[in-house]
Amino acid sequence: MSRSLIRRSLIDLDPYRPGLSLAEVKERYGLSTVIKLASNENPLGVSPKVLQAAEKQLIDAHRYPQSGSPGLRRALGAYHGISETRIVVGNGSDEIIDLLIRVAVEPGHDHILAFRPCFDIYRLQAKLSGADFRQVALRSDFSFPMSALLDAVNDDTAIIFLTTPDNPSGFAPPADEVLDLHRRLPGGCLLVVDEAYMDFAVPRGRHSVLTLAGSVPNLVVLRTFSKLYGLAGLRLGYGIMPESFADALLRVKLPFSVNVLAEAAGMAALSDDAFRDATIDTVVRGREMLTRALGEMGFLVYPSQANFIMVKPPMPASQLFDNLLRLGIIVRLLSSYGLPDHLRISVGNAKENKALLKALHEILRGGASPMRVQSAPGS
Ligand SMILES: Cc1ncc(COP(=O)(O)O)c(C=O)c1O
Repeated sequence: MSRSLIRRSLIDLDPYRPGLSLAEVKERYGLSTVIKLASNENPLGVSPKVLQAAEKQLIDAHRYPQSGSPGLRRALGAYHGISETRIVVGNGSDEIIDLLIRVAVEPGHDHILAFRPCFDIYRLQAKLSGADFRQVALRSDFSFPMSALLDAVNDDTAIIFLTTPDNPSGFAPPADEVLDLHRRLPGGCLLVVDEAYMDFAVPRGRHSVLTLAGSVPNLVVLRTFSKLYGLAGLRLGYGIMPESFADALLRVKLPFSVNVLAEAAGMAALSDDAFRDATIDTVVRGREMLTRALGEMGFLVYPSQANFIMVKPPMPASQLFDNLLRLGIIVRLLSSYGLPDHLRISVGNAKENKALLKALHEILRGGASPMRVQSAPGS
């Protein structure tokens, strides 16, 4: 057989499919204003402190960043009350996911485990690293069947990815359940708890396992600056993990993957309590309002602890998605998650949420069915 220029296992790799961008929709429908509620970005934009810090840093753009982002690691260590030696900063938490897989997996031998559906980057980076990617179906209410997950673990399970609050459902189990899962795992299996949306959980302390990360040998917690801190476009995320693991990641990581603007922006964002509080307040209020209003319009609404809400609309989801696009509102169709009947809607600011509801009323006018709000899963 002749040699292929591209690794055979990657020839038909299905790429990550992001939500539509503002520019794409403006161009396609000839619209001048578009509201994007598709990628769970910050509804308040960027903190003024970040803008100032990034502008000031630009003068140093000709310099390489300090490898490993030590300034930001120190700031994060102080913020979380954790030693900086347990923190690795990356080009989005996507990069940390990739690095964890590269460090933990024996290619062609080990496998990675996650629930189905889940955030697609786990599958893609697993495949790139030559690891088999296995999934255990979530329950029909999108809660986590922990014992089924445990049953799927064997000596070759290198990593379990657990997303809480979960994407796309918004479900978050109590921290005790996650820690109980961790206790039952073999020592050679790494539990990676992806807390990208944890800042929006109420109460956070009941759901997060961050305080334990780094102090037990096989637990990693991921956080991102893309959501609460409004830095999705600058690409910044981090993992908290045992020191020996952090050391291994830092040794294989490309030295300058976090740029000087992102590092300065991250430190400024951490120091802006007012912006952080305003974001949480906007998301929590908006989430409550949308949950109620969408339920009243006949949507099946899944209770969410994240900055988005998953719904099953009272009309075909793809049709509603298209109609919203025509009115200049982008939400996320979930067919790439295997959920063609569902949509994921990011919580916007008050004006965006109002525009969304107005558009939905227009589309559904006359056809709304009685209120249906899904009861809390697992309760
Ligand atoms: C569950 C989950 N993890 C990680 C990420 C990636 O975040 P980042 O922008 O930090 O790469 C996302 C982004 O949407 C996500 O939904």
